[in-house]
Amino acid sequence: MYLTETAQRYLRATGPEHDEIQADMAGVADEEGFPIIGPDAGGLLRTLAAMTRATSVFEFGSGFGYSAYWFLQGMPADGEIVLTEFDTDELTMAEEFFKRAGLTERAHFEDGDAMETINEYDGPFDVVLIDHQKERYADAFNAVREDLRVGSVVVADNLMRGPIDIEDLLAYFESGEALPDNKSMHGVADYVETVRATSGFQTTVVPVGSGLSLTVRVE
Ligand SMILES: C[S@@+](CC[C@H](N)C(=O)[O-])C[C@H]1O[C@@H](n2cnc3c(N)ncnc32)[C@H](O)[C@@H]1O
Repeated sequence: MYLTETAQRYLRATGPEHDEIQADMAGVADEEGFPIIGPDAGGLLRTLAAMTRATSVFEFGSGFGYSAYWFLQGMPADGEIVLTEFDTDELTMAEEFFKRAGLTERAHFEDGDAMETINEYDGPFDVVLIDHQKERYADAFNAVREDLRVGSVVVADNLMRGPIDIEDLLAYFESGEALPDNKSMHGVADYVETVRATSGFQTTVVPVGSGLSLTVRVE
């Protein structure tokens, strides 16, 4: 846990609530031990969608649609989202949840490798979520960075928690200590270095959910 228990409870007590469908999704995540982004991070995705007036969102790694569902809550009625997932069962579940919510018309369900699916879309995207294989995060950013307008935001999950150890990453960023032989951790470190080194973008890491980085195109 990287936030104190009090801080986590505070975020939960003041943060957004699940609707009935999201509560069912969270139940599935609990049963399956599936890593959804959670309500605090979900609320931030909703806010980003509303702030950018997002009409086009792309996700790398959608699972059964929990994060995409949050995005749509903040997007205008003509906004559309691309869900990508190479686990067909997860994507089928996403389609079922979206059908129940009457959101199917606003979603593109892409079964297969997100790194290939991205080539089928031209953008521009208002918000992009990177939440698939950590070792492919930097490649995902490079694949979309020309498809963003000024003001678009790229969000990446698991900067502080998940298949990574925050203490090891801290030692790497603070003192240059070697990272363990772990491809997720190398992937996250590479991602942070890539987005910070790319001109025309500004990046901030926020301790919400499992730790999100927000990378905004500024020129
Ligand atoms: C952390 S989960 C996504 C959770 C989702 N964003 C949410 O919060 O509801 C990661 C998902 O990405 C999928 N995935 C990983 N690499 C992928 C790839 N290259 N293409 C498509 N899906 C991928 C996995 O099967 C898994 O379901």
